[in-house]
Amino acid sequence: MPAESIDTAPPPDPWSAPLERVLFDAGQIRARVAEMGARLTADYAGKPLTIVTILQGGAVFMADLIREIHLPLTIESLSVASYHGETESSGRVTFHQSRLPAIDGRHVLVLDDILDSGRTLSAILDRLRTERAPLSLRTVVLLSKRIERAAPIEADYAGFEIGGEFIVGYGLDYRGEFRNLPVIGVLKTDRPA
Ligand code: IMP
Ligand code: MG
Repeated sequence: MPAESIDTAPPPDPWSAPLERVLFDAGQIRARVAEMGARLTADYAGKPLTIVTILQGGAVFMADLIREIHLPLTIESLSVASYHGETESSGRVTFHQSRLPAIDGRHVLVLDDILDSGRTLSAILDRLRTERAPLSLRTVVLLSKRIERAAPIEADYAGFEIGGEFIVGYGLDYRGEFRNLPVIGVLKTDRPA
């Protein structure tokens, strides 16, 4: 009978395989999201809260964050595109629906995965402010790039500050993929197409 393999090397991690570098692992993300949820729980206590998620990227962060906000709240979403499949913001923000969420009389938190040039959040805030009547309008992002913004906006709540690199995972995509990675990292540039 052949001897059993005694190779004890850990199996390759399928999640980090496409990544050159992991910036935040699942535990770090979980801990920070819990802190943000606790802060929002304190700040919005007693207020009618609606979270407007920017799809697709914000979906993963929203799903985890709302379970850390221990208050009654409602969720809405908006679908926009600004990257059009590339790694540089195109400068155009396209709304995929004509109907804006019903947020009149609500305290509104607009949620996105990442603040980059600022064009997406600022286009959305402009429309919500002029076409709807929220009681208040603030923004929450998991990540904020430390770069000069094309639109003058900073998030009211930000989980992590990062540099200008293009990253994927935990909702963030490259050409539609990698949103389901439980970690956030920088893609390998020499990966197979
Ligand atoms: P902004 O309009 O330039 O602030 O871009 C915000 C949107 O671009 C986010 O909602 C993301 O969908 C996308 N984005 C910005 N930076 C990255 C990145 O590093 N990786 C993946 N998507 C990004
Ligand atoms: Mg996005």
